[in-house]
Amino acid sequence: MEDAILSIRDLYAFYGKKEVLKGINLDIPRNKVTGIMGPSGCGKTTLIRCINRLHELSPSASLKGDILLDGRSIFRMSPVQLRKRVGMVFQRPNPFPTMTIYDNVIAGYILNGIRLKKEEKDRIVESALKKVYLWDEVKDALKKKGTFLSGGQQQRLCIARALAMNPEVLLLDEPTSALDPKATFRIEELILELKKDVTIVMVTHNVAQAGRIADYIAFLYNGELVEFGKTDDVFTRPRHRKTEEYLTGRFV
Ligand SMILES: Nc1ncnc2c1ncn2[C@@H]1O[C@H](COP(=O)(O)OP(=O)(O)OP(=O)(O)O)[C@@H](O)[C@H]1O
Ligand SMILES: [Mg+2]
Repeated sequence: MEDAILSIRDLYAFYGKKEVLKGINLDIPRNKVTGIMGPSGCGKTTLIRCINRLHELSPSASLKGDILLDGRSIFRMSPVQLRKRVGMVFQRPNPFPTMTIYDNVIAGYILNGIRLKKEEKDRIVESALKKVYLWDEVKDALKKKGTFLSGGQQQRLCIARALAMNPEVLLLDEPTSALDPKATFRIEELILELKKDVTIVMVTHNVAQAGRIADYIAFLYNGELVEFGKTDDVFTRPRHRKTEEYLTGRFV
C-alpha cells in the first residue's frame, strides 16, 4: 500500500438511529486524487464531512470508529486546527456574500480571529488566487464582492479560500456539478496541478471525470465501501457487480 495520509477505521455514522456509514475502512494515499463514487444517498457527503468533523455539527448526528491523519486521531485534535489541515469545498460555490474577493480568500483567518500584517495578507491573497488561475482575472477587482464573479470563478475563489490555509488535504464535494464544461475543465486541470502539494478527496458522480483525474476510486453503496483501488483497475476490472452496474450507467 502507498503512503496513506488518512486512515479511516471502522467508521459508522448515524443521523438519529439511521446508520448511513456502515463500518468503512479506507486508507487515502498521500498526494493523489481519490474519487468517491456511488449512487445518490449512499453516504459520500457524509463520509467527507466526517473527515473534517463537520458531521458532528449536524443535529442528531453521531459516529463511531476513528480517522487518523498522519497517524493521529482527528477526534483528539481541535476542530479548528483540523480544518486548517483539511480544507473543504462544497458542491455549490459559496463565497461569503458580504465579503470582498480579497476578504473571501483570507476568510479562514478572519473568522478564526487570526491577525495578519497587511503585507502578509496581500501575499496570501495573491498566492492563493494565482494557484487557482484567478489572479489575472480579479487583481483589479479585489475590493468587489465575490458574488459578482461567474459560477466557475466563484468556485475557484472557494478553492483559493481553502488553499489560503495551506491545507494538507482538500475535500471536494462534487465541485463541478454546478459548472459548465469549460469551467469544469479548468477546475479539473487545477486539481491535477494541486495534487503535487495537497491530497485530494473528491466526490463525483461523473464517471468520465473520475477517469480523467482520479488516481484511486472508492465506490460506496448503501453506506458500505464496496470497492477501492486504482482507477484503471476499478474501471476495467470491477470486482463487485454493483460497481460495474454503476460505472456502466445502469443506475445513478
Ligand atoms: N442532515 C441530515 N439529517 C438526516 N439524514 C441525513 C442528513 N444528511 C444526509 N442524510 C441521509 O443520509 C444518507 C446519506 O446521505 P449523503 O448526503 O451522505 O449521501 P450522498 O451519497 O452524498 O448523496 P448525493 O449523491 O445525493 O449527494 C441519505 O439517506 C440521506 O437522506
Ligand atoms: Mg452528496
